[in-house]
Amino acid sequence: MAATALLLSAAAVVLLCLAGGSRATNVTYDHRALVIDGVRRVLVSGSIHYPRSTPDMWPGLIQKAKDGGLDVIETYVFWDIHEPVRGQYDFEGRKDLAAFVKAVADAGLYVHLRIGPYVCAEWNYGGFPLWLHFIPGVKFRTDNEPFKAEMQRFTAKVVDTMKGAGLYASQGGPIILSQIENEYGNIDSAYGAAGKAYMRWAAGMAVSLDTGVPWVMCQQADAPDPLINTCNGFYCDGFTPNSAAKPKMWTENWSGWFLSFGGAVPYRPAEDLAFAVARFYQRGGTFQNYYMYHGGTNLDRSAGGPFIATSYDYDAPIDEYGLVRQPKWGHLRDVHKAIKLCEPALIATDPSYISLGQNAEAAVYKAGSVCAAFLANIDGQSDKTVTFNGKMYKLPAWSVSILPDCKNVVLNTAQINSQVTSSEMRYLESSTVASDGSFTTPELAVSGWSYAIEPVGITKDNALTKAGLMEQINTTADASDFLWYSTSITVKGDEPYLNGSQSNLLVSSLGHVLQVYVNGKIAGSAQGSASSSLISWQKSITLVPGKNKIDLLSATVGLSNYGAFFDLVGAGITGPVKLSGPNGALDLSSAQWTYQIGLRGEDLHLYDPSEASPEWVSSNAYPINQPLIWYKVSMII
Ligand code: GAL
Repeated sequence: MAATALLLSAAAVVLLCLAGGSRATNVTYDHRALVIDGVRRVLVSGSIHYPRSTPDMWPGLIQKAKDGGLDVIETYVFWDIHEPVRGQYDFEGRKDLAAFVKAVADAGLYVHLRIGPYVCAEWNYGGFPLWLHFIPGVKFRTDNEPFKAEMQRFTAKVVDTMKGAGLYASQGGPIILSQIENEYGNIDSAYGAAGKAYMRWAAGMAVSLDTGVPWVMCQQADAPDPLINTCNGFYCDGFTPNSAAKPKMWTENWSGWFLSFGGAVPYRPAEDLAFAVARFYQRGGTFQNYYMYHGGTNLDRSAGGPFIATSYDYDAPIDEYGLVRQPKWGHLRDVHKAIKLCEPALIATDPSYISLGQNAEAAVYKAGSVCAAFLANIDGQSDKTVTFNGKMYKLPAWSVSILPDCKNVVLNTAQINSQVTSSEMRYLESSTVASDGSFTTPELAVSGWSYAIEPVGITKDNALTKAGLMEQINTTADASDFLWYSTSITVKGDEPYLNGSQSNLLVSSLGHVLQVYVNGKIAGSAQGSASSSLISWQKSITLVPGKNKIDLLSATVGLSNYGAFFDLVGAGITGPVKLSGPNGALDLSSAQWTYQIGLRGEDLHLYDPSEASPEWVSSNAYPINQPLIWYKVSMII
């Protein structure tokens, strides 16, 4: 009898332990902080977007984030990759959101799930699938029934997927926070009253999904209760939430910036980032998120636009390849440690501020026996010596000193103490590192180059002929970056737009890249830029008596992802396209044009190394005067 009782109680203990692994966590908030299981928390978060790396990279990235002192990993959810065709969902591989969230949980960290589903994020079309644009009557991000129905359906799908896997904190999972919409407050005035109605609807819809964890809206000063309005920016110490009952939270602290093709490589000094972080916690903040902590790579055709680069490195604490970036990563880790030493005081009380002279201030968190202080010099030029509690402290320009006991400085944000390791990039240094640190670099096994010819102009059977110039995105639905526009004219020899055999051809395009071919030969090319994608190309061309073919190749480099009505920003050759000479002009804008979506090489999957195609020619003699060529080489490392 006793033995049975013992066995039974042992079984009960095992059951309790198992249940304990997925014990529900209660997440609420008050005016100071997120409150997890009744305890206010000071949290440090960082963005890692799951599709910007590969699943085998996830555990390593998350571990480096944990080692860097992070408590929370933030990610957006990218609608277009999960629902490429309406109603057909894809959560496999790099798109396996639940696996990513579980990997974060395995490391013992929390998750902030920013569902959007508009995300901006330098992601193609802001994360919206293109098919959404073609839903009859749809108007994005406003009080529009077709749009709201789709947004609600996808948001509910994500929430249900997370619930199905038991991933909300309320179910014992890691998700402690969620976001709906994204920075709508920056642009909602362009949508008038309908925009406000939409914003309130989005908030209500999110809450109705009953996740059991708080929702936030970023950059939305009038986010309705119970949603928390949060700050995004390079500095957020001056931010105040819209209710005395909400905590001060920073959802995007830009650790660097994104790269555009043709733009400068962004850089944000570690000292400045550390200053911004310390100032935020000094001035009452309790949750901040690095955007990005690991930026990664815009794989496939996911980069937004126009002209967002493939690298999304972001000058983040973990670089594009998953290596820690020093001294940024190490210095921030030290800042996080210093802030965590202050946590007992930070959660116990509100700060009181003391002026330490011009451009210098102390914030003191003192409750009973705990006391933490932050001393800031917000003068960007001059160092200062200040007196605090009868002691002198030297504060370098633009710095914060952290005193977890109100007496001793454990860290000043302008002074980097963490060990600085420099890394060296070498070609193919992958294989052997000897005990003395020397590398054996293997020879690169490179196959010979092969090429495949891409024909100029229309080659597909399904080309479409129509009078007038068509906008590109509405024509391609972004199935390809490329759209051919082709027309022909017959020259007798005495046309008013001719000057001998010459004529001036003007092509006006919304962008992003243009190539002009006359009679199969390249006549010129032009491209826009990240700041303006508009193109006006003009050049003298030679025409021949009889039939002349004009082929225009227009390419997009990432669809717009930001701004009011960004979804309606067009691309491609919308005209005018005009020939002119000394005696007159010929406007081709309303001529008959034949359209071909995509290149032949795309149909043949020439971009896919796993597919062999008879098109490839292996040779060392490359064709000359052939304007469009695909090249291929294989490397074995
Ligand atoms: C923010 C936006 C992010 C990202 C960032 C710039 O305004 O919320 O999604 O686009 O700017 O990297």
